Amino acid sequence: NRRVTIRDLALAKQRGERWPMLTAYDALTSRIFDEAGIPVLLVGDSAANVVYGYDSTVPVTMDELVPLTAAVSRSTRRALVVADLPFGSYQGSPQQALEAASRFMKEGNAQAVKLEGGHTVAPQVEMLVSAGIPVMGHVGLTPQSVNTLGGYRVQGRGEAAAGLLKDAKELERAGAFSVVLEAVPADLAAEVTEQLSVPTIGIGAGPSTDAQVLVWQDMAGLSPRVAKFVKTYADLAGTLRDAAADYADEVVRGSFPAEEHTYSS
Ligand code: KIV
Ligand code: NA
Repeated sequence: NRRVTIRDLALAKQRGERWPMLTAYDALTSRIFDEAGIPVLLVGDSAANVVYGYDSTVPVTMDELVPLTAAVSRSTRRALVVADLPFGSYQGSPQQALEAASRFMKEGNAQAVKLEGGHTVAPQVEMLVSAGIPVMGHVGLTPQSVNTLGGYRVQGRGEAAAGLLKDAKELERAGAFSVVLEAVPADLAAEVTEQLSVPTIGIGAGPSTDAQVLVWQDMAGLSPRVAKFVKTYADLAGTLRDAAADYADEVVRGSFPAEEHTYSS
């Protein structure tokens, strides 16, 4: 009855056990995922899109993400809670990264943080790890860099494969406990997974990574559009639309509330 730790995840890799990660942003759904046995929950900066309605992750702030992290931590018992550091909160210097990560650990009660980038953020990873903060890396399609990448597109094809592998290795060397590989060819993800001793977590990276992650609203059919790499396991949008329409209809017709929903004097 304790939380999953980064040590458990390292052992899973040694044993060849795959594990799932989901994003989480609020009390009720993170509790469900915790009860379902999802071992790692990421309070993603994808909250920019799915919670706050921005059209990229660039605008979202620590003030917006820290309270979501606190809600997920309060509502879960077993999952390792990882908080995404938002754009602009860590790239400037290791010291800046430490200040940002400390907020997520102290105010959000996260047990780890994630940041985007390869060798350029290795000094940040080293600083956080030496301060006692587990760090999850993230290479390939890094949405905070959408403006330099020129859109949301597959990364690491052809010539770019070697650089991506090098970046992943550099993150491991700097002390990252795991690395997300987003939107990269499956054979490259398999190669990175083989070469790293820490777990790789794929999203749009094929079947050979040590773990998989999806944005929960995407996998549950709540998001209006999803990428090729998403599998939809439920139709929550349809279910909620029907529930709202039925409720509206019954209110208009006067059939809700019925006697069983009503207090007598
Ligand atoms: O913000 C997010 O949801 C993520 C995952 C998709 C890896 O970074
Ligand atoms: Na993210």
